[in-house]
Amino acid sequence: MKALRHLFGIGPLAPGQIEYLVDLGESFLELSRRPVRKAPTLRGKTIINLFFENSTRTRTSFEIAGKRLSADVINISAQASAVKKGESLLDTAQTLAAMRPHVLVIRHSIAGCCELLADFLPGTAIVNAGDGAHEHPTQVLTDLLTLKTRAGGWRGKTITIVGDIAHSRVARSHLIAAGKLGYAVRLVAPKTLLPADIERYGCEVFHDFDAAIPGSDVLYMLRIQSERLADACAFPSIREYHEAYGLNAARLAAAPEHAVVMHPGPMNRGVEIATDVADSARARILDQVESGVAVRMAVLTALCGGEGEEA
Ligand code: CP
Repeated sequence: MKALRHLFGIGPLAPGQIEYLVDLGESFLELSRRPVRKAPTLRGKTIINLFFENSTRTRTSFEIAGKRLSADVINISAQASAVKKGESLLDTAQTLAAMRPHVLVIRHSIAGCCELLADFLPGTAIVNAGDGAHEHPTQVLTDLLTLKTRAGGWRGKTITIVGDIAHSRVARSHLIAAGKLGYAVRLVAPKTLLPADIERYGCEVFHDFDAAIPGSDVLYMLRIQSERLADACAFPSIREYHEAYGLNAARLAAAPEHAVVMHPGPMNRGVEIATDVADSARARILDQVESGVAVRMAVLTALCGGEGEEA
């Protein structure tokens, strides 16, 4: 595989690099199920998780991934950083890079911030853990590993992504990955929750959820990102949104028998997904969480070059 210097998004990755990371992640799934969940792979490596937006899954799984591979892991949140005292993102990142970590994992609301920072931080590998509405590459790697191990793979499949596409970095990363890896993406949303440039992705777009369900192999539900909607009113009420775009038992019953349900989290039960669906045997949502640790172990390993080598 071509060496991985940074992980800015799915966009810069070749199909072979994506598949390599998923395969490596699969081998780490096995390690994560052993009684002793520890390997020496990243001994002597330092990883800093710098999160300016809230996170449960991504931040915790990067921390567990690093620790499971014996790296030293430091977590910094915006609330506890000097950004609260007026320091810029660039100064904060340069300050942390001067402490010579091997990897800086960044989540921030500014799209493209990881690439911008990388130019100023030579010697530190940067991982995009979600940048605004731009990309969330490790979520897509997580989903691909889940599809591979828990849903019969992705090749030739149709993933129907439903909900707040306009603000979804996960949807954007899937649209990019689909073109590279041979699966199709359908998007389902009201016009108010679709990006203005949706045509450029060349995928099927539905405003009627029920029309998109037949032929779907995965129903991939998204949360409404109210924190990015400001005061805009994208739909009349939560009740009406759930009726039109929520995945309930009747809709799941209309999907092909083999179809599975996925969600990147955090879930809003009763809004985009009904509780009985979220907890059903067809849901792969907690499998996604488990895969998330394994693919982040793969990403950190690929960036650090394994034991004893420099990134
Ligand atoms: N899927 C995802 O990014 O979840 P978190 O916001 O909890 O990290």
